Amino acid sequence: MKDVVVITGGGSGMGLEAAKCMPKEKIIVVSGRTLKKLEKAVAELESLGYEAYAHTCDTSDRESVRKLAEYAASLGNVRNVINAAGMSPNMSDGETLLKVNAIGTVYVNEEFAKVMKEHSVILDVSSNSAYALPHLLTRLAGKNYKLAYTNETEFLKKMMKYANLAKTDYEKAGFAYALSKNFVCWYARKCAYEYGPKGIRVVSLSPGLIATDMGNLEKEAGGYLIGLSAEERMGKPEELGYAIATAADERNGYLAGVDILCDGGSTNGKEFKKKK
Ligand SMILES: NC(=O)c1ccc[n+]([C@@H]2O[C@H](COP(=O)([O-])OP(=O)(O)OC[C@H]3O[C@@H](n4cnc5c(N)ncnc54)[C@H](OP(=O)(O)O)[C@@H]3O)[C@@H](O)[C@H]2O)c1
Repeated sequence: MKDVVVITGGGSGMGLEAAKCMPKEKIIVVSGRTLKKLEKAVAELESLGYEAYAHTCDTSDRESVRKLAEYAASLGNVRNVINAAGMSPNMSDGETLLKVNAIGTVYVNEEFAKVMKEHSVILDVSSNSAYALPHLLTRLAGKNYKLAYTNETEFLKKMMKYANLAKTDYEKAGFAYALSKNFVCWYARKCAYEYGPKGIRVVSLSPGLIATDMGNLEKEAGGYLIGLSAEERMGKPEELGYAIATAADERNGYLAGVDILCDGGSTNGKEFKKKK
């Protein structure tokens, strides 16, 4: 039985770059909502010598995620799940961002944990935005994170109450995005301890501003992060693809229950960058 790698959001950006760093003997399943994008990704992976398949899935729909997990398990031993599906503030309203980024992560981890066996890995892609909110806000919001898997409606209501503290519509979406990604870090930590005894390692990884379609869309609002990064540049999708693929590799077996901040140093830049 072959090993299978599943990448949600694998039709583009960092997810697709992570696929290109995977060992060639593994089967790659790229997933997302747009079939054409996935077929193009599969063609590219095949041209590089991979056995790859496209499977549409909306991660904000549990049944759709369940079917993806079932499909992947029918191909072989689901060894690595990279949950890179996500939306950013310029793409949608706050509630949709929370549904896709936060609730979607709950569906992916829960449904895949049912089909995964020992020596397997789930990597949830978060964001450096997870670190950007005032501590008081994340502390208060964090008290309600459990609602994401016990009472979704109440979770969304509470998170939107905090997001609506921001002034403009874009800022509200920005707060909702940051909360959704702060949740992802917390939830991946929680899952690490829940699934660890079954041999499923769980970890999250938070990219900084990366030059993917999404990153370029957010460049105007997030451009200040470039100046705060150590090399004063955006990250390259292939750099993050490599970081994600290595963190999600089962040989990296002791990396669990933490978030890996891969942001070129921008989160710590305020303290260490010299004023020009
Ligand atoms: N780029 C950055 O600067 C940056 C920074 C921090 C964190 N991130 C995070 O990194 C991850 C990857 O983003 P990226 O930068 O590589 O951007 P990207 O190229 O836009 O990739 C995101 C992918 O997610 C898919 N997607 C969106 N909503 C989905 C849904 N409901 N169900 C399934 N798939 C969905 C998209 O495909 P479809 O639209 O076809 O579904 C797309 O292929 C995201 O979680 C993002 O939040 C990005």
